[in-house]
Amino acid sequence: MKSLRDKYGNWALITGASSGIGEEFARRLAVEGFNLVIVARRKERLENLKQELEAKYNIEILIAAVDLLSENYLQELIEIVGEREIGLLVNNAGFGYRGRFIDADAENDENMIKLNCIVPTVLTHHFVKTMVPNNKGGIIFLASVVAFQATPTTTTYAATKVFNAFLSEGLWYELKKYNIDVLSLNPGGTKTEFQKVANSTTGPIPRTTKQVVDTALKALGKKPSVVDGLYNKVLAVSSRLVPRRLAVTVAGKISEMFYKKD
Ligand SMILES: NC(=O)c1ccc[n+]([C@@H]2O[C@H](COP(=O)([O-])OP(=O)(O)OC[C@H]3O[C@@H](n4cnc5c(N)ncnc54)[C@H](OP(=O)(O)O)[C@@H]3O)[C@@H](O)[C@H]2O)c1
Repeated sequence: MKSLRDKYGNWALITGASSGIGEEFARRLAVEGFNLVIVARRKERLENLKQELEAKYNIEILIAAVDLLSENYLQELIEIVGEREIGLLVNNAGFGYRGRFIDADAENDENMIKLNCIVPTVLTHHFVKTMVPNNKGGIIFLASVVAFQATPTTTTYAATKVFNAFLSEGLWYELKKYNIDVLSLNPGGTKTEFQKVANSTTGPIPRTTKQVVDTALKALGKKPSVVDGLYNKVLAVSSRLVPRRLAVTVAGKISEMFYKKD
């Protein structure tokens, strides 16, 4: 069987690799023998990860300490990547917010929409340009279990995640003729720094980043979309079987329980 590296090429680029799911992707793709471009703002964390992984595996790691909300982020990434061809793109960086829409800061919502939706779209436009002529590639988008129904008290975040789900599923169809695998990865509550940033909790059955990345790498190339974990699968499927009004009401009740009010 072909290894992931044989299938997609030598280089993978992961956004949001300084913690959580992105860091786990970096660890797993290093084991698979990929050279990595690891992107996040916290340079020291990226440097530590590079040092650790390069010492263990025979790979090269480039650090991109780039704020993806800055004006020149694409140009900065292009300069760091140079002539290297990115065969696997993991659009992972993102953040959430849990709380009432009317209490939320408009600028924070604007940044969330930019980081969670616009950045993955722009990066995909850029890196797919070399995947198409190479007739191979892989692209993973981080959607979420909240992409399956509107989710009150994390309303804007859920809307950003349905954007990722629709973008990736549409691209799965459009790009398969170029031998490019696209996956919408839908985790539920997973133990990372996400909860602290979003003022949220993981919910009753938290998953680990290892489980999430396992799920993703097993599904990539086999299906357009995957939900991580049985509990999350049940949530995702059941919301599709009931009227939208009921789905959003139940999601709202559950979501309110996850909202840390203190
Ligand atoms: N954890 C969950 O329960 C869960 C569930 C479903 C989906 N997800 C999705 O999974 C993805 C990863 O989240 P996570 O749970 O791993 O959270 P996390 O531990 O908070 O990681 C978020 C990553 O994004 C990076 N990032 C944030 N703002 C950035 C910016 N402006 N520029 C560059 N990088 C930035 C962070 O690095 P720096 O701070 O160093 O920049 C960090 O590496 C997100 O898209 C999230 O929506 C998470």
